[in-house]
Amino acid sequence: MKPSPTKRQALLIKLRWTTVIYSVAAVVLSAVYFVLRQRFKDGFWGFDFYLTNKAFSIASLVLIAASMLLTGLRYFKKVTPATFALRKHLGLAGFFLGVAHGVASHVLMPEQFPWPGWVLENVWSSALAFVALLIFALMAVASSAKVKGWMGGERWRLFLRYGGYAALIMVAAHAGILKWESWIKYLKTFSSVLPSLSLPAVVFCVVVVGLRLAMSLGKRRRNLRKDEGGSYGRSSKMQR
Ligand code: HEM
Repeated sequence: MKPSPTKRQALLIKLRWTTVIYSVAAVVLSAVYFVLRQRFKDGFWGFDFYLTNKAFSIASLVLIAASMLLTGLRYFKKVTPATFALRKHLGLAGFFLGVAHGVASHVLMPEQFPWPGWVLENVWSSALAFVALLIFALMAVASSAKVKGWMGGERWRLFLRYGGYAALIMVAAHAGILKWESWIKYLKTFSSVLPSLSLPAVVFCVVVVGLRLAMSLGKRRRNLRKDEGGSYGRSSKMQR
């Protein structure tokens, strides 16, 4: 039975508030991590807009990856329908934080990330971020029921599925290209005590993509078994 419009509205408000709480928690926890890391690495306490922007970027990556993780977890029956309903909202929150991070980097901190000089110097990483953000923007538009109707259910599902994972891999690569040297230095020396937070965040993305691959494999095996069962049934009927 479908919930009444009032119940649906109440559910939507609950989902949005839960997403706001998770998003604020992701930004605050990332910011605390960066402050601690700076204390260990550079020897002083401090918090500024530069670290805020880093917290935005990590929160964006983690929320987008978490939104996709829910698909894999649902397949393996590890989430309730109520938690699964958060998927779209977490993805949208991650997208908006990604936009905030892009704007903060190049518009609000032009001394650190001058435009277009920085982008030309980091052309691969920047191109991946732009294309991914464009895909996420199209996905945000496609998340409306109107667009779903216009695209047709199957095309809509395929776009959200492949577009989403492709864009997730692109933003993980965007972070990986920028932070690779820092990761390697940490793994060789452990000198900063804590690694760049981008390292566990990208490992989380790898786990999410791995789970999606395991899900595809599981589905293919199940379909094969069904086909074999079907053709066995048919051939035994024919023999009879
Ligand atoms: C959803 C989209 C995006 C995600 C998830 C994302 C994620 C990240 C991550 C995780 C980092 C490494 C942060 C660190 O630990 O230092 C990073 C760095 C950076 N990103 Fe993005 N990014 C996105 C889009 C963009 C866009 C569109 C731009 C440019 C317009 C951009 C510009 C930068 C810059 C300049 C840095 C270096 C920041 C620093 O060293 O502090 N990103 N991004």
